[in-house]
Amino acid sequence: MTATEQRESGRLAREGTLRHSAVLGLGHHRASRVVPNAEVVGAIDSSDEWIQQRSGIIERRWATPEETVQMMSVSAAREALDDAGIDAGQVDGVIVATVSHLLQTPAVATAVAHELGTDHAMAFDISAACAGFCHGLALASDLVRVGTSACVLVIGVERLSDITDPTDRGTAFIFADGAGAAVVGPSDEPGIGPVVWGSDGEQYDLIRQREDWRDVLAAGNSRMPHLTMQGNPVFRWASFTMAKVAIETLEKTGIKAEDLDLFVPHQANMRITDAMARSMKLPEHVRIARDIAHQGNASAASIPLALRQMVKDGEARSGDLALLIAFGAGLAYAAQVIRVP
Ligand SMILES: CC(C)(COP(=O)(O)OP(=O)(O)OC[C@H]1O[C@@H](n2cnc3c(N)ncnc32)[C@H](O)[C@@H]1OP(=O)(O)O)[C@@H](O)C(=O)NCCC(=O)NCCS
Repeated sequence: MTATEQRESGRLAREGTLRHSAVLGLGHHRASRVVPNAEVVGAIDSSDEWIQQRSGIIERRWATPEETVQMMSVSAAREALDDAGIDAGQVDGVIVATVSHLLQTPAVATAVAHELGTDHAMAFDISAACAGFCHGLALASDLVRVGTSACVLVIGVERLSDITDPTDRGTAFIFADGAGAAVVGPSDEPGIGPVVWGSDGEQYDLIRQREDWRDVLAAGNSRMPHLTMQGNPVFRWASFTMAKVAIETLEKTGIKAEDLDLFVPHQANMRITDAMARSMKLPEHVRIARDIAHQGNASAASIPLALRQMVKDGEARSGDLALLIAFGAGLAYAAQVIRVP
């Protein structure tokens, strides 16, 4: 029987209709070492003033040796489960978005699922760089909506300090460490809107690991490959193209900018955030995440870190509509509107 015949015979058809999904809880783990600009400027011939003006970063968080990718993931996930009032045993899926789990296999998600005490949850990692958390959220939402999964943990986690060259002027002051997590489960009301996502592989080289391991070995290098970034083209792409993606996301969700309560873009650069908000003509009442000032850019962790902080600070309230938009290496991007749990 061909695939078409199989589909037509209905033997692969699924029973039931789609249900709604929602974020049921949020958690985060902010890496504990506070690193002010003064600590990074010496190696890159820069200044506190330049970094603040060009990026909005005042200080960043770097992990201590104990704060591994797994440890920060578990810590953020426990807070999210607690926030959702859900026991780890009810979790049947764990998706970890990261580019800084330095073992290529196995996926750190399996170790995280085990340490949390899930009941043998399906677990895998995704590599979509700074866009990873929103990719994970879209996947988790669909898994729950279809009924494949009952409850999925989505974790964005990075230890970018491990793969950042402290002498690289273009990246040394930007990248940071931390983890954020969301529990995604079924809901009576729609809580996660449709995703708008995509990639532009023509710009594959703009943000990348400098070389792969074969090149490192061939060159006889004893240091691990670092991240490199052509900041200015990335800046222009993010400021203009991503604003269009954000507007498309609102249209696909069927809401207007006025209906939003929160705008939580990837924390890449304060000027990118401001440029996007201007292009989208966001009304004054929309509260904008500005976590980058004290956290730096924590890639896949940046959006859940920022959103959780807004909840803790009382800037985000249960039921608020938040537009999330994440973008980064690849170039890859993903955006959706969610209701704050
Ligand atoms: C990295 C970034 C802050 C640099 O800002 P920029 O305004 O684009 O700066 P430019 O690269 O055009 O450089 C401007 C000037 O500053 C200088 N400069 C560059 N890095 C510097 C540093 N760390 N300290 C001081 N001066 C620096 C340059 O030499 C240049 O000097 P010149 O005008 O005399 O030639 C910015 O491009 C950026 O944030 N890019 C996007 C990052 C991002 O979104 N990442 C998302 C994916 S993770």
